[in-house]
Amino acid sequence: MSTRGTPGAPGSPTRASKAPAGSTPATAAAAVPAAQARRLLARAVEVSAVYGGGERDFTAVDRVTLELGEGEILGLAGESGCGKTTLGNSLAMIANPPLYVVEGTLEIDGEQIDLTTLRGEQDLKRQRKYRGGVVSMLPQGAMNAISPTLRVRNLVHDVMRAHDRTVTRDQALDLARDRLKMLEMPVRVLDSYPHQLSGGMKQRVVTVVSTLLNPRLLIADEPTSALDVSSQRMLVEMLLAMVEQRIMSGVVFVTHDLPVLSQVSDKLAIMNAGKIVETGPTEQLVHDPQHPYTKKLLSSVLDPTAETRARGRDRRTRPEPAEGDLR
Ligand SMILES: Nc1ncnc2c1ncn2[C@@H]1O[C@H](COP(=O)(O)OP(=O)(O)O)[C@@H](O)[C@H]1O
Ligand SMILES: [Mg+2]
Repeated sequence: MSTRGTPGAPGSPTRASKAPAGSTPATAAAAVPAAQARRLLARAVEVSAVYGGGERDFTAVDRVTLELGEGEILGLAGESGCGKTTLGNSLAMIANPPLYVVEGTLEIDGEQIDLTTLRGEQDLKRQRKYRGGVVSMLPQGAMNAISPTLRVRNLVHDVMRAHDRTVTRDQALDLARDRLKMLEMPVRVLDSYPHQLSGGMKQRVVTVVSTLLNPRLLIADEPTSALDVSSQRMLVEMLLAMVEQRIMSGVVFVTHDLPVLSQVSDKLAIMNAGKIVETGPTEQLVHDPQHPYTKKLLSSVLDPTAETRARGRDRRTRPEPAEGDLR
C-alpha cells in the first residue's frame, strides 16, 4: 500500500469547469456556462426500475433524468439505499431479475437505447451489444471479485473475449500493456496474482481492465469507498487522466462520499429515495444548494472549507506509481 504523501503540486492544472483558487461562490457561479457548453454525451430519460416484478414491486429508481457532457464527470450522491447502484445497473444495462427497468431510455451519441427489461431475455440480448463498449460498469467491490487463482493477464484476456471471441491472448495483452503505460502504471502487474497487489493497485487495475474497450460512458460504483485516502486520490487522478486521454468520454461516479465527489465531479446529482432531487454544477450545488435534502446531506458530511477546496484544486496531478503498490 502506498504511504507516499499526496502527489499534488501547487499550481497543477484543474478541470476547466472548476472555480479558480480562492474563488467565492459568486465567481464559481460565473464558471458555470463553460461547463454547460460541452457537447452532450449521454442523456438518461425518465428511467424507472423496480425490484420484484410481482404484486409487491418496490420502485428503487423513480423517473430519473440525467445529462452528461462530453468529457464530464457526473457525481451521483445520496445516502445508502437511495438507489444509486440500481440506477447504475439500469444505465449499464446489467439489470437482472428481480430488478426490472420498467421505463426509460439512454441517449448516447445520438442513439436512443431502450433500457427496459420487461420482456426479459429479448431485451437483454438487444442491450448486450452496448455493454462494455458503449457503457461499462465498474461494480462496487470489483477489486475483491477477481479470481485469486488467476494472474491479471488472464483477467484481461477473459474480459476482452467476452466481447469479441476473435481476440487473441497476445492482442489483449498488447492492448493492456499500452493502456498501463499510458496511465503510468507498472506493466508487471499483468504477471501478478491479485493477492500480490495492494487494494489501491487492485482497484486501479480493475478500472483499467473494465475500460479496455474504450466505453463512451463508465459507471463507477463506489470505486473509492474501500480505499485509504492516498489510494482514493490515486484512483481519482487516474480516472481524470483516463477522461482526459479519452479512454472513456464520461463518467458517472457513484458514491455516498460527498467530499470525494466534490473534488472530482463537474456536476453533481443528488438522489433521495429513488429520485434525483437536485442536479447542477459542483461548485454551485455545494455552495448554494436549493433542495432541503441537499442542504441536509451537505451539512451532515461536507465541510467546504478553504482547505477542502484547496485539496480539490490540486487533484489534477498525475498518479505516481508508488513502490509500495506491488508487494
Ligand atoms: N435484490 C433486491 N431486492 C429487493 N430490493 C433491493 C434489492 N437490491 C436493492 N434493493 C433495494 O433497493 C433500494 C436501493 O438500493 P441500492 O440501489 O443498492 O442503493 P444504494 O446503491 O444507493 O445504496 C434499497 O432500498 C434496497 O433495499
Ligand atoms: Mg450502492
